[in-house]
Amino acid sequence: MILTLGIETSCDETSVSVTRGKRVLSNIISSSVHLHKKYGGVVPEIASRFHVEFILEVLDEALKKSGRRLKDIELIAVTNGPGLVGALLTGISLGKALSYSLKVPLVGVNHVLAHLYSAFLNDGPQPAVPFIGIVVSGGHTALFLCGKDYEQRLLGQTLDDAVGETFDKVAKMLKLGYPGGPVIEKTAALSRKGDRLNFPKTNLGKESLDFSFSGLKTAVLYYIRGLERTPNPKRRTTQTAITRDICYAFQENALDSLVEKTFLAARIHKVKNIVVGGGVAANSRLREKFASALRFEDKVNVFFPQRCYCTDNAAMVGFLGEELYKRGARSDLYLSAEPNLKIGGKHA
Ligand code: KG4
Ligand code: ZN
Repeated sequence: MILTLGIETSCDETSVSVTRGKRVLSNIISSSVHLHKKYGGVVPEIASRFHVEFILEVLDEALKKSGRRLKDIELIAVTNGPGLVGALLTGISLGKALSYSLKVPLVGVNHVLAHLYSAFLNDGPQPAVPFIGIVVSGGHTALFLCGKDYEQRLLGQTLDDAVGETFDKVAKMLKLGYPGGPVIEKTAALSRKGDRLNFPKTNLGKESLDFSFSGLKTAVLYYIRGLERTPNPKRRTTQTAITRDICYAFQENALDSLVEKTFLAARIHKVKNIVVGGGVAANSRLREKFASALRFEDKVNVFFPQRCYCTDNAAMVGFLGEELYKRGARSDLYLSAEPNLKIGGKHA
């Protein structure tokens, strides 16, 4: 195993880790989320400047916590896309500078794939290949058929918004703040669920493995607009209750489509293992829904990352970088930031 320094700066988390295989010696994350809150979403320029300002402190902290020194590092793994170009460049520049000065190899890692394999950072039983992987994050919603040696094939993805992005937009409509996922989950849990509100289900066809969330988002928007036009005398109390019910109905609808499509992919490809990754994988209701769907399936297993590895972190980048490096992946000082990096090819 190789002592690997992981670097992640694709969006609003500045993160550096020290890992060796699945062992995470340190995984420091400094988030600029508080700076984006008042805008209801990530402001790329603010994110980039934050990375530049804090990345060296995060690096120092990661080394200190791991008990290792820079001279001990044997490999640098850095996210090179997809993501915000200015944000990616900060991590890539640090990765290249360290690789050059320490004379250690550099490997660029696809952020979506790092999420896909983040459930492997676990001492428990490992998902066996082949498995269906689903990445549910702020930027992506994608289903993969995963085979040996970290090879995978894209089976379907969102045709419009990513699921996490939809949580963020609905939270913005309801003035609940940013990021939307955690606050919607909490608010939905308080819903009466009694005279249940329902938003229409998106239907892309029985066999489709693609997703679409823009219809659901628009349905929520029109529902909120309708409420605003009908003033309610008991405004304060009922508004809280209505907000909770909207969160509940929205969350049920969005999460059901993730679970249904994942099991459909497993059935189509006759695969018994499912692996979930990305920020939305932190959602307890999603975990519950997968667990209850399992009752109707024969011998299917579902693997989730530990919650600390669901949202953006460098440990998942270091882990995958090391695995790909062992299988021949190499980058050089021409490694560039790829804001729209796609999945494809052997090591993507
Ligand atoms: O994976 P991630 O950190 O960043 C991207 O690669 O995009 O995911 C961030 C997304 C945000 O949209 C956030 O609202 C969502 O994950 N998220 C959640 C939860 N925690 C974070 N969505 C639903 N429920 C959660 N508990
Ligand atoms: Zn991410």
